[in-house]
Amino acid sequence: MTNIVCIGAGYVGGPTMAVIADKCKDCRVTVVDINSKRIDAWNSDSLPVYEPGLDEVVFRNRGKNLFYSTDIPAAIKAADIIFVSVNTPTKTFGSGAGKAADLQFLEKTARSIVEYAEGDKIVVEKSTLPVRTAQALSQVLHANTRGLKFQIVSNPEFLAEGTAIEDLNHPDRVLIGGMDTPEGHAAVDKVADIYRHWVPEDRIITTNLWSSELTKLVSNALLAQRVSSVNSISALCEKTGADIDQVASVAGRDSRIGARFLKAGLGFGGSCFKKDILNLVYLCEHYGLPEVAAYWESVVKINDYQATRFVGNMLSSMFNTVADKKIAILGFAFKSDTGDTRESPAIAVCRQLLDEHARLYVHDPKALENAKLDLAGCENVTFCEDPYEAVKGVHALVIATAWNSFKDLDYKRIYDLMEKPAFIFDGRNLLDAEEMYEIGFNVYGIGKEPKTRFRK
Ligand code: NAD
Ligand code: UGA
Repeated sequence: MTNIVCIGAGYVGGPTMAVIADKCKDCRVTVVDINSKRIDAWNSDSLPVYEPGLDEVVFRNRGKNLFYSTDIPAAIKAADIIFVSVNTPTKTFGSGAGKAADLQFLEKTARSIVEYAEGDKIVVEKSTLPVRTAQALSQVLHANTRGLKFQIVSNPEFLAEGTAIEDLNHPDRVLIGGMDTPEGHAAVDKVADIYRHWVPEDRIITTNLWSSELTKLVSNALLAQRVSSVNSISALCEKTGADIDQVASVAGRDSRIGARFLKAGLGFGGSCFKKDILNLVYLCEHYGLPEVAAYWESVVKINDYQATRFVGNMLSSMFNTVADKKIAILGFAFKSDTGDTRESPAIAVCRQLLDEHARLYVHDPKALENAKLDLAGCENVTFCEDPYEAVKGVHALVIATAWNSFKDLDYKRIYDLMEKPAFIFDGRNLLDAEEMYEIGFNVYGIGKEPKTRFRK
């Protein structure tokens, strides 16, 4: 039986290891974390992460070959393969602050491995890391005085939140990078063996370590760049009468461009796109490539601009003032089907509206607890479990997350509950604008001509 340990029981470690345990009955999988509250939650009926399909996978394997624990020393001792899935946020202090990755959690993990290991191990980078981190990791691990040997393998994770279980069950590709030595190849093969339980061989791709580390950053950068590209054009659509959904869908029919990931909206959120692009920017600057750095940094700038532009449009449409006006924010998660609000564009939108002295009524089906933390200390915010409660007496309604359930709300009832003239600012182009206009709303989408009852 192969003993697999994952250090870091977050959005990646928890679900990824649950699926590995589900598929590999000949492996014993233990997920450890320094955060005992998180581990308690993984061991409870109420998991710390909301993901469609996750509960079922955890509940049917937990206690059989899947364990969540805080006993890090015991887990490291018993492990054959250690996945490291700790957080790697943007550094907020010192050299590289605001761009470079903060690798302190990774290094602390490496030091725990050295301290408690009693034999040789394969250490797998699952976290997203700057290219060449494996070199530093190897140096920390091999600074042991007991002659222990470690093989470092890079196996970045490509799952997206909200579809994590589906992505893990049917990945487009599994990437495994290793050292170009016989021991390195053997370690890569051992990690590939895990995935061979359910992933077709032609989807398991092996590369050298540095390509693997860099591919993860580049994949996220390319995805984010598509969103910023389409969002930049949405601004032009609003000036010209073109419709961004039409433009994106027809451009995407070219198979070289592809239809997915071209949905204009409030901008990308989530814990990774921004941090990974900034990390890429930092690396380019570090290696003396300022033009390349500036190119990728513009992707983040357009993203910030999109949220600011949206609030600017709200202000000018609502007669240049939202002071003391009530505004309902429907959706706070950074995307639908998750309770995660990290870097959600809703945060920037809410903060800018609060700066304008608006009074906000926030509703989200899964992210209300995180929203409370994100807006802690802000006055003039009310959190509402019920969407109809949130819209009572408001002047405007903002769709900030594309939750499908928002399509099924009774908008005639909502219209009746609101102040008039009633505004909808659909930051995700989720609703049928024509239908909303027919009910009586003034409707503003992204990259679309507004549908209003005001005389021009
Ligand atoms: P997270 O913050 O949800 O989880 C990280 C966990 O690591 C935390 O629970 C933390 O307590 C734990 N940890 C930190 N230091 C530790 C230590 N020394 N020992 C034991 N546990 C420790 O982060 P996440 O969203 O799961 O992301 C983890 C990594 O995966 C990041 O590098 C991220 O970029 C990458 N990634 C994330 C996603 C995603 O969708 N969230 C997808 C792909 C890749
Ligand atoms: C993203 C990648 O899709 C994953 O492959 C990657 O593993 C992960 O980052 C990571 O490294 O953390 P995630 O951030 O969970 O996954 O979700 P996405 O579906 O990529 O959405 C990111 C943001 O872009 C969301 O705010 C979403 O609303 C926005 N988006 C996405 C758009 O505005 N338009 C689109 O067409 C697509």
